[in-house]
Amino acid sequence: MDSVAPFVLFLLPGLQWAAAEDTSWTYTGMVGQSEWSEHFPECGGSSQSPVDVVTSQTKYDPDLSPLTPLGYSQHGNRPFTLYNNGHTAVIELPDWMSLGGLPWLFSAVQMHLHWGSGGPSSGGSEHTINGQSAEAELHVVHFNSELYPNASVAMTQRNGLAVLGILIVTGEETNPSFNNIINYLSRVRHADQKVLIPAFDVQSLLPTDLGRYYRYNGSLTTPPCYQTVIWTLFHERVQISKAQLLKMETLLYSSRAEDPDRMLLQDNYRATQPLNHRVIFASFTAESGKELSSGEVTAIVIGIMCGCVGLAVIVRFIIKTVRFFAYLRRERVAVNRMKQPEKENEKQQEMVLNCTGQAEKLEERSSAQSEP
Ligand SMILES: *[C@@H]1O[C@H](CO)[C@@H](O)[C@H](O)[C@H]1NC(C)=O
Ligand SMILES: *[C@@H]1O[C@H](CO)[C@@H](O)[C@H](O)[C@H]1NC(C)=O
Repeated sequence: MDSVAPFVLFLLPGLQWAAAEDTSWTYTGMVGQSEWSEHFPECGGSSQSPVDVVTSQTKYDPDLSPLTPLGYSQHGNRPFTLYNNGHTAVIELPDWMSLGGLPWLFSAVQMHLHWGSGGPSSGGSEHTINGQSAEAELHVVHFNSELYPNASVAMTQRNGLAVLGILIVTGEETNPSFNNIINYLSRVRHADQKVLIPAFDVQSLLPTDLGRYYRYNGSLTTPPCYQTVIWTLFHERVQISKAQLLKMETLLYSSRAEDPDRMLLQDNYRATQPLNHRVIFASFTAESGKELSSGEVTAIVIGIMCGCVGLAVIVRFIIKTVRFFAYLRRERVAVNRMKQPEKENEKQQEMVLNCTGQAEKLEERSSAQSEP
């Protein structure tokens, strides 16, 4: 191992990230996360992954169309290869599997998992949403097969990779799709072990809603941390059972079979990295087709009830006010009516006076006429 000259690139069988130098990295310890950038300069870059998705700061992009996995379900009869690379469990994917819905066609390369160690408050996922971790995370890695000849070249180039991030939470039910991987972990307990497993429908590992996701430009989450990844983090999370998670967390070693000290492969997730002016786009708005939890339904029902009560109070107030003014008007009219007869009397008296005046004048005139 130590005889491998620094900076010599060697590829692990199948696709693997080229591991530069003789430095093997880990998540904690001598070459832990905070030391990665000393050995792998890109790990100290400004567009690193994973990140925390602060949903209120995401930007809705209506042009982000649903992703279309192509051939994910046509796995054929050729077995998949599962292996323990000392950092995670990797499954190589057949090259006919690809991903549509991005500006280029991306061909599938491999998928792997990140998880925690089962502590009460421990994380496990790499990406977080509003500061919240999930228990584990699945990454499905693709390379840009329109622009580049293979994954080794693509991962060092702009827009070279597209990775799907799927957050995994635990619940009561066993997820049979994940057993296609978990059931075989005991065959690759030690680093560098490899086994053929029956091919299976990879799409069944994904959430059903492929239309709602977050998109940003980031990096590999492991050294050499190349900043060449178009990230898609699905909004919908998938669920596995606690027993399934426990197997993931406890079956694998990061140490090789021949190593005297066995090291459990746990907490293989990187801390979230600063966004540094990057924007995370969302393919959806908070309102669009939101599935409501029972808590939210309760909140909405209570909200509507409060709203109705409030409205009733307002309507009652308006009616009372209207009635009050109507009453006031009636009162005024009544008062005016009482006043009116007096006025009419005055008018009548005036008329009477006028009439008597005219009568007097007529009398004077008639007497004058009869005199001659
Ligand atoms: C990837 O493609 C490059 C350039 O064509 C080639 O030199 C390299 O050997 C290929 N790598 C693999 C792993 O196929
Ligand atoms: C990623 O970066 C490219 C430029 O390299 C830019 O055109 C694109 O919009 C960015 N995508 C996201 C999701 O930020």
